[in-house]
Amino acid sequence: MIGFNEETKTFFLNGKNFTYAMRVNSDGYLTHCYYGARVPECDFRYFKPEWVKSFNPGIPDSKHIYADIMQEYSTAYLGDFREPALVPEDERGARVADLSYLSHEILPVKPAIGSGIPTSRGGETLVIVLSDKNTGLSVKLFYTVYDEENILTRRAEIINGTGSTVTLRRALSATVDYYDSDFELMTLEGHHAREKTPEFTKLHHGRTSIGNIRGTTTANHANFTALLRPGTDEEKGEVFATSLIYSGSHYESVEVDESGRCRVSTGINPESFAWKLENGEKFETPELALCYSNRGLGQMSRQYHDFFRNYVINPRWVYTRRPVVLNSWEGMHFSFDRQRLFDTIDALKDSGIELFVLDDGWFGARNNDKAGLGDWFVNEEKLPGGLIAIADRCKQNGIKFGLWIEPEMVNPDSDLYRAHPDWAIAVPGRPAVPSRNQYVLDFSREEVVDYIKKLMYKVISESGASYIKWDMNRPLTENWSYALPADRQGELQHRFVLGVYSLAKYLTESFPDILFEGCSGGGARFDGAMLAYFPQIWTSDNTDADDRTVIQLGTELVFPMSSSSNHVSLSPNIRNGRIICADTRTNIAYGGIFGYEFDVAKYPKEEFERIKADVEKYHEIDDLILRGDLYRGCNRTEGNECVICVVSKDKKRAFATYYQALNPHKQNPRFKIPGLAGDKIYHIAELDVSVPGAVLSNLGICMPRVKKDFASYTLTLEAE
Ligand code: DGJ
Repeated sequence: MIGFNEETKTFFLNGKNFTYAMRVNSDGYLTHCYYGARVPECDFRYFKPEWVKSFNPGIPDSKHIYADIMQEYSTAYLGDFREPALVPEDERGARVADLSYLSHEILPVKPAIGSGIPTSRGGETLVIVLSDKNTGLSVKLFYTVYDEENILTRRAEIINGTGSTVTLRRALSATVDYYDSDFELMTLEGHHAREKTPEFTKLHHGRTSIGNIRGTTTANHANFTALLRPGTDEEKGEVFATSLIYSGSHYESVEVDESGRCRVSTGINPESFAWKLENGEKFETPELALCYSNRGLGQMSRQYHDFFRNYVINPRWVYTRRPVVLNSWEGMHFSFDRQRLFDTIDALKDSGIELFVLDDGWFGARNNDKAGLGDWFVNEEKLPGGLIAIADRCKQNGIKFGLWIEPEMVNPDSDLYRAHPDWAIAVPGRPAVPSRNQYVLDFSREEVVDYIKKLMYKVISESGASYIKWDMNRPLTENWSYALPADRQGELQHRFVLGVYSLAKYLTESFPDILFEGCSGGGARFDGAMLAYFPQIWTSDNTDADDRTVIQLGTELVFPMSSSSNHVSLSPNIRNGRIICADTRTNIAYGGIFGYEFDVAKYPKEEFERIKADVEKYHEIDDLILRGDLYRGCNRTEGNECVICVVSKDKKRAFATYYQALNPHKQNPRFKIPGLAGDKIYHIAELDVSVPGAVLSNLGICMPRVKKDFASYTLTLEAE
């Protein structure tokens, strides 16, 4: 709910549990008043924090100083010395802006963003216009409340009305001010095959920042922050989180100033960004989803999950049951021909597996990762009869066909690169920087995106595929485009991301009934914007079940289980050699969109034979994965064990998984089942007993004693 009090000039944005308030102060600035637990409407003018005036720059013609005002969208170099949201540079090189309130309106429906960055779908939206009366530069701030989810989205538009050119040196999505800094900062850190591991940092005076300049979201730092009040855990404590709906270089920082206030800033990374705005043009920032939880990290996750499911992911797919796939990558890599694929597909008949995905290696001269990217033509030597022959073979065996693509890339050893060397991002006169032997296509150029659009349309429509895995396997380097003038090279990275969105929109809209899965060397581009196109994303190239407990739970801190793609693979694991039993590999992969990834010829017969029953079991619980609420018990990042419980919204059904890494050789493990209704009696199918929810949550259950490491145990609960 959004309200405005005319007399006090205060805006109130109320979610079910939170209030976010700001007001126009006596100097005409839009100042932040309050963000936290829901409070009644009030006149915030009684609350007058004032900082020491000495040596602090004053606002011209006012008795106040800049340091006093907590500007909603902060600028620099006038007297607020904290991190700015906006730094515009005029033709003289001056970098100041003084933004005061001009007008506002409340729109019934959230307006779409013009440049193509995905945003959440939404209703009532507050638009506040700020302007710099000295120059004519203005900023529109957009706020939408998601009541039940306790989410507030924010974004900004910068409009150049100055009569001359302005270069944006920085245009963040938002800054949010807090009156104190009694928080711990949580971020999700990692690298390839170790994505999204929670890290906790004590705030200190000055800035703590994460982010990257790799041109994509990356596995290294997720575009997420959470400020946690002391004592916060899964079930209790205040959490203020941010998740940026964007897939390019991002920046997040928390700054504690000399008075102990803190400011969270987030948006496109200014280090790899500059944007020239001609008079009359506007720039749209990505959207930021702020989440408030007064019941710990668990509630934060569930709120984010509902938000992404109901307002970001395509409704066509979000609650649609997904097929259980076998992906060829870990089992075959590049070494396959038609016969090997046929043998695999034939073996899948009646196995329970529902879709075969042909991963990398089916096109051009792609016999290893050194050649072929960009040549999206079937390698007829390997695959006579083309992809349709593979799709037909799948059909004959009663399964569907899926295909891998990596449309943003080119190998120097490819016909595409030989024909269009300038289509790759590189600086002429310097050796182009390879990564996995490939270059990035310059998607800031429309003709490049158009070429790939046509090619991909043809490939997909002729392939017989009902699933596409879209991969992206290197960061952007050099950041220089043949097509941009020198004073616009700072635009390359963001223009590249807009090109990716344009292709993703085109393909997903052209093939609405094809399921797209995102991927980027595992989960390096697992973000809210990608979810707008891809209802599921490959979570990590690490398929080891033990490592996956950390990676999946880290991913699902923000993103729904229904978006996390998890595969059972061969043991010993090809990445780390760890030996884990089939039960545990299966149980851990159940915690999201379930599938397989192995060489059928090498997969133990008895493990292959159990697949049918395992898939059937998955389909008994997959509506919980798609629609349910996730509750985490003990936390794997802090200890030896974890509990994952997914509960239906009406609390009538639940599926709980207990996992223990090393066997401590003591009493058999006991675990409590979170998220159940205390007053309901649950029948546990595996044990054929009925126990009140309150007892299962407080006393818990004992897992049978096992003599092995990496053990797991699942329970299916139904309220009587
Ligand atoms: C990286 C992905 O994460 C893998 O699953 C696989 O598709 C390879 N790329 C193929 O090159």
